[in-house]
Amino acid sequence: MTDRINELIAEIEAFSSRAAGEIEEFRIRMLGKKGVVTGLMEEFKTVAPEMKRTIGQKLNELKTKAQQKVNDLKTEAGAGGGAKIPRAGDMTRPGKGAAEPVGSRHPISLVRNEIVGIFDRMGYVVADGPEIEDDRHVFTALNFPPEHPARDMQDTFFVEKNPDVLLRTHTSSIQVRVMETQKPPIRVICPGRVFRNEAISYRAHCIFHQVEGLYIDEGVSFADLKQTLLHFAREMFGAETRIRLRPSYFPFTEPSAEMDVSCALCGGKGCPVCKGTGWLEIMGCGMVDPNVLEACGIDSEKYTGFAFGMGIERISMLKYGVGDLRLYFENDVRFLHQFSAAL
Ligand code: PHE
Repeated sequence: MTDRINELIAEIEAFSSRAAGEIEEFRIRMLGKKGVVTGLMEEFKTVAPEMKRTIGQKLNELKTKAQQKVNDLKTEAGAGGGAKIPRAGDMTRPGKGAAEPVGSRHPISLVRNEIVGIFDRMGYVVADGPEIEDDRHVFTALNFPPEHPARDMQDTFFVEKNPDVLLRTHTSSIQVRVMETQKPPIRVICPGRVFRNEAISYRAHCIFHQVEGLYIDEGVSFADLKQTLLHFAREMFGAETRIRLRPSYFPFTEPSAEMDVSCALCGGKGCPVCKGTGWLEIMGCGMVDPNVLEACGIDSEKYTGFAFGMGIERISMLKYGVGDLRLYFENDVRFLHQFSAAL
């Protein structure tokens, strides 16, 4: 019996495995209910009394060795062997951050930042104002006659009537606030949200965004306006861009114009986006009407100025080829994610 026990001890010492299944098999064979050790314990009962002491000690040694081996192999397998994932972390694995979803700026913010950036480099500063306005800042100081249709409920959202409290229909209201409080030279750019009572469709919404600009100083001319807008158009749409100014009408500018840029998609040859004309209308502009300067306390004999205004949605639609204005307001992440590469 001693020889058998010695053989088994040698077997135990030689055994090695990192596979959990094999270790378990080994444990059952040695220490299980029907295992080798249990078998020997049964047999031990029949051992002659004078042999019990030596054989008993050997048997205990065998049992302890088997137990120890199983424990050691299990810890080893758990700590880095076998099919298990390393606990301490593999320093060569790709970083976790690469798999995290990245947010994106809204395309309206992207285009607004770009427009503001171009004018910032020309020395314009950003001015802000309230979205809930009064009649004076949205209409009266801007030379809108009392019966002008834009004052109508059809176009304007009124919060209260008499005295009128309303949602601004353009950010020109900010320009009035600037003219009332600052002395020329004035060079401001006014981005903001505006509201008009329009039926919502792919090309119109009751909420949209504008950027308007104002420059007032001594001797500002229409040539300054044209060169400023040409520079803007080339920065925004590319160095090849051409502009054209068509006569128009706004109550607050005289003369007034509508500015078109050459279609960047077809280079002016004509395509579906520019409806075959080669031109895209992007903003209104003009020389500030002397009545407006006077209404805001600026001497119209001494100072002249120009103003311009554009819709951010329209520019964003042209720049990114978006066909439906409503996408900008729905916050569908499938749409917004497409802008995650832009900054
Ligand atoms: N305020 C005009 C609009 O909302 C745009 C504009 C601004 C036109 C300044 C001329 C000068 O359409």
